[in-house]
Amino acid sequence: MTRRAAIIGHPVAHSRSPLIHGYWLKQHGIDGDYGRLDVAPDEIEAFLGDFPASGLVGANVTVPHKEAAFRAAQERDPVAQALGAVNTLWLENGTLHGANTDVHGFLANLDAAEPEWARALGEAVVLGAGGAARAVVYGLINRGVDRVVVANRTLARAEALRQQFGARVLPVYWRDLAGRLDGCRLLVNTTSLGMKGQPPLDVDLSALSPDALVSDIVYVPLETPLLKAAKARGLKTVDGLGMLLHQAVPGFERWFGVRPEVTPELRALAVADLAAKGQLA
Ligand code: ATR
Repeated sequence: MTRRAAIIGHPVAHSRSPLIHGYWLKQHGIDGDYGRLDVAPDEIEAFLGDFPASGLVGANVTVPHKEAAFRAAQERDPVAQALGAVNTLWLENGTLHGANTDVHGFLANLDAAEPEWARALGEAVVLGAGGAARAVVYGLINRGVDRVVVANRTLARAEALRQQFGARVLPVYWRDLAGRLDGCRLLVNTTSLGMKGQPPLDVDLSALSPDALVSDIVYVPLETPLLKAAKARGLKTVDGLGMLLHQAVPGFERWFGVRPEVTPELRALAVADLAAKGQLA
């Protein structure tokens, strides 16, 4: 019988997940299907509460339903537990399991681009303190990064991350960011700034270490103004598309029984899709 999975969100038409999983299904010759399910906020609880009735073996969950998926999951992995958000669901003997693979996606993407990135890193700087920042900060702390400076417009949200993840997290006001970039070797944007339709992210990169890695979790456009500015300075960059591709791996393995790979061919396919929609820059 065809095994079915889907991405659940609202809206969900823009999601690249069907492209990713469709590629892997074809590559591995699996009798499976991966679709899109738009579920409205007032229907999500009932939908997830009777997940077996959907006929799906599992699902990805995106905005705005990751917290609802967290509540609906009867079993959760430690990362989901720490983040209070679930982006991957699967059924096991009728029980709904939930995991959060965003942290894996973020770290695996850095590892693939720059295997030694965490070595002698010292301090990392994270821009933003929302849900995406929570995953990034958790990942960095768990990789043993000494200090994670979190710069946010609303200081209280950065302080909440320190409360949760401990004294290695250093909250600073967005306006005090400039003073924290001296010699910095890893800068990660988790804010929505620079995304298509949002104001640009305007950060002076001149103080960063010459061997710094600049990463953006935004991938529409693929080359954000931040990444463009970093490239112009000769800095190494890691774009957000890689995180999206890598976070998809554990779900596919759960649902279809094969651990898939993020191949250059898959990335090229996703880049072509962005290009077709005018979302490269
Ligand atoms: P997500 O879950 O995708 O991280 P979010 O929780 O809404 O989304 O967080 C968005 C992040 O972008 C926050 O850090 C937000 O700053 P505030 O916490 O101060 O709201 C940041 N952000 C959004 N618009 C911004 C702007 N115009 N200037 C500075 N920061 C902004």
